[in-house]
Amino acid sequence: MKIMIITASPNKDGLTAACGNAARFGTEAAGAKTQIVNLNELKVGNCQACGNGWGPCFDKHQCQVLDDFQSLHNSVEDFDGFVFVTPVYWGDISESAKAFLDRVRRCEAWKKEATYFQNKPFIAVAAAGGSGNGAMTTLTNIERLLVHIKADRFDYIGITKKSREYKIKTIIEASKAMVEHIKEK
Ligand SMILES: Cc1cc2nc3c(=O)[nH]c(=O)nc-3n(C[C@H](O)[C@H](O)[C@H](O)COP(=O)(O)O)c2cc1C
Repeated sequence: MKIMIITASPNKDGLTAACGNAARFGTEAAGAKTQIVNLNELKVGNCQACGNGWGPCFDKHQCQVLDDFQSLHNSVEDFDGFVFVTPVYWGDISESAKAFLDRVRRCEAWKKEATYFQNKPFIAVAAAGGSGNGAMTTLTNIERLLVHIKADRFDYIGITKKSREYKIKTIIEASKAMVEHIKEK
């Protein structure tokens, strides 16, 4: 079983990275193989809203903006579950998270066949600062996307600097539970 952990922060030793490491610890403790992908280390540009609003994402389910998106998007098919960790910026997902997820949604949402995420469990984590303002709106925005790409919404976790100690444990436990859930399926 393979779990992809996607992080979307430029900060290599911040809260987002700690959440990603917690997810790896939990998933591997439950017996899964994991791959961590940091979107900020990849070249994934913005959707260009080609044509009159839809490009080949609509019917060919591919994006014509050529960069690291294609190989990452295609590799998703080989994974059984996902943990996605974004820092909270302006009460929303980070820029690198948005660039990737916007293009994923366009390529996946109109598939007649199963999407690469279909019925696969997905944990969304919003890593906020001291105030925690906007952690909920961040998770709400991810929820809409997960509905479009037909993922199994396994859990939504908000974490702040104040809640870090116990929420890191929550991420570990949620990640373990997700792997056990996949085994039972
Ligand atoms: C541009 C920007 C916007 C931010 N907006 C928010 C916000 O709306 N709410 C919040 O609680 N923290 C906000 N923060 C703080 C980050 O969410 C917080 O520092 C988080 O831990 C960043 O993740 P990192 O530790 O991986 O860098 C913002 C930080 C930046 C850089």
